[in-house]
Amino acid sequence: MGEEIELILDEYKVAGRILAEVREEAVERIKEGVSLLEVAEFVENSIREKGAEPAFPCNISRNEEAAHATPSIDDETVFGADIVKLDIGTHINGYIGDSAVTVDLSGNNEELVKASEVALNEAIKIIRDGVTTIEIGEVIENTIKERGYKPIVNLTGHGLMRYNSHAPPVIPNVKYEHGIILRENNVIAIEPFATDAQGAGKVVEHGNAEIYSLIKSKPVRMIEAKKLLKEIKKYQGLPFARRWLPRERLDIALRTLKNGGILRDYPVLREEGKGLVSQAEHTIIVTADGCEVTTKRIV
Ligand code: CO
Repeated sequence: MGEEIELILDEYKVAGRILAEVREEAVERIKEGVSLLEVAEFVENSIREKGAEPAFPCNISRNEEAAHATPSIDDETVFGADIVKLDIGTHINGYIGDSAVTVDLSGNNEELVKASEVALNEAIKIIRDGVTTIEIGEVIENTIKERGYKPIVNLTGHGLMRYNSHAPPVIPNVKYEHGIILRENNVIAIEPFATDAQGAGKVVEHGNAEIYSLIKSKPVRMIEAKKLLKEIKKYQGLPFARRWLPRERLDIALRTLKNGGILRDYPVLREEGKGLVSQAEHTIIVTADGCEVTTKRIV
C-alpha cells in the first residue's frame, strides 16, 4: 500500500477513535430532563478538546424525527421518554468519522433499537473487497424485516471523502437492482434506519432547518451576508449549525445566502407515517478480506 494512502487512512482512524470516545461519553448524558443543547455542546466541545473538529453539527433527532435535528440557539428543550438518535461527525484534516446510536429513554422500544443495530452488524460482516452495495442493502432490509420492522428506504449510507460527508456511493437500506462494487480502501458509512408498524418506511422534510452547508461561494453585496460568507468558508463545505454563527442580523444574512444559491439548508427529516425511528451507524474502511470499523466501541 502506498505511504500516502496509509497516512490518509491513519487520519480516518484517529477521527473515528475520537468519535467513539465522545459518543460513549455523550450516551451517558442522555437522560430525561437533560437539555438537548447541553448534550450537543458537550459533543462538539469534546471533539475539539480531543484534537478533531465536528464534521457536522451534533444531530439529536427524537421519536419520529429520523435525522437533521440539532438544537437551535438558546434551545431549552429537554429529553422526555424519547427514542433518541445521536448522530456524530468528526474530522481530522477533512478525513471524516460518522457514527450514530439510538438511546431508548422510553424503555419499551428496545427491539426497534436492536433492529437497526443488528442490521448494521450483519452488513459489516459481509463487507470485503468485491462486495456490492446491492448485497449490503439486501442484508439490511432482510434483517430489519425479519425482526418485524420496516427499513427507511429514502435514507442511506454513503461514501466519505475529504471534506465531503456525503460522497458516492449510496449504501442503500433496501435491495436495489443496481449498485456498485466496493474496493479495498474505500471509506463508507453504513446507517440502517428502522421504523415500526405505524411508519411509512419513508421520511419527509418537516419544519425549520438548523443545519446548512456552503454550495458555492459567489459575490454578495449585503454587508452582513458578506461577513457571514467569510465566516462559513472555514467549514470547507461541511455542514454547520445556525447556532455556531455570529448572531448579528443572522436570519436575514442566512436568507440572503440561501436565496442566492450559496447555501443549502437541511430541514428535519421526519417519518412520513409518524412511526418511531431507530438508527445505527459506523464508518468503515474496506480491506481485502473484510473491513475495519473506525468508529467502533472502545473496549
Ligand atoms: Co452518515
